[in-house]
Amino acid sequence: MPQFSDTELTAAVVRSFEETPDARVKFLMEELVKSLHDYVRKTDLTFDEWGYAIDFLTRIGQKCTDTRQEFILLSDVLGVSMLVDAVNHRARDGATETTVLGPFYVGEHKQMPHGADISANLPGERMFVQSRVTDLAGKPLAGVPVDVWHADGDGYYDSQSPTYETDGPSSRARFVTDADGRLFFRTILPCSYPIPTDGPVGEMILQTRRHPMRPAHVHFLVNAAGYEPLITHVFIGGDKYLDSDVVFGVKDDLVANVEKRTDPTMPDGKKASAPWHLMTYEFRLKPGEGAAPKPLGSRVSEDA
Ligand code: BEZ
Ligand code: FE
Repeated sequence: MPQFSDTELTAAVVRSFEETPDARVKFLMEELVKSLHDYVRKTDLTFDEWGYAIDFLTRIGQKCTDTRQEFILLSDVLGVSMLVDAVNHRARDGATETTVLGPFYVGEHKQMPHGADISANLPGERMFVQSRVTDLAGKPLAGVPVDVWHADGDGYYDSQSPTYETDGPSSRARFVTDADGRLFFRTILPCSYPIPTDGPVGEMILQTRRHPMRPAHVHFLVNAAGYEPLITHVFIGGDKYLDSDVVFGVKDDLVANVEKRTDPTMPDGKKASAPWHLMTYEFRLKPGEGAAPKPLGSRVSEDA
């Protein structure tokens, strides 16, 4: 009957994966075990601490629903999501930078016509968003679906509302680029907001004296055939949390100078009833492939 010292134990567990048929799975399992064992050795983890960790992860799982993904949130606040993003996007070659998908890509991205107001009934300062999708050489890409979503003026996503199922989507839509690669829409100026703190992730954020805030942003998922899917945000320049995003998602190139305007008409010639903001941002796609992520609950409408 084998008995192991703590370092022999690691080698024995690694050996236990020897027969794994898939080489990548074998490698991932071996490295996972090595890293976990190193952590336990380095920290001299106590039974109480280990029990706490098991309970914490159990509660993370129990908090998950079709529209709430506490595991993604955990990955985000520990910087794992941005690290996975970094190792998969090492060379951008001039393509737009990527950032976290976040837990609020829940589907229901119905196609809307250019110029539509995706936050029609919400209070807030109005914003006109104009954008273009091109390849790396600046050639416009037509017919590209672009999913957009953002928080309301109180910092909540539609899917966080208890009445989401009956109210339907708000501040989320899909636009398809025109012949010139352009899209434009109306919405409200989003504000900075806290990630959900009513679960185990929030508990950890508060216990470790971190703040839970994300700087104001609009999410974009640009998904063109023959190009890498682009998952990104455009951040509102000047936000006070740009330097301390709780999920480490800000990149300089993704910060837009959103201008305050008083012109009586918006860029599409329609009347503005009050001062408004203009966000202008161009997305450059890198040739490649890959499936865009499926939304939580996979409720994205197939006909959109
Ligand atoms: C978001 O921007 O929607 C988000 C991203 C990561 C964690 C929480 C929220
Ligand atoms: Fe967000």
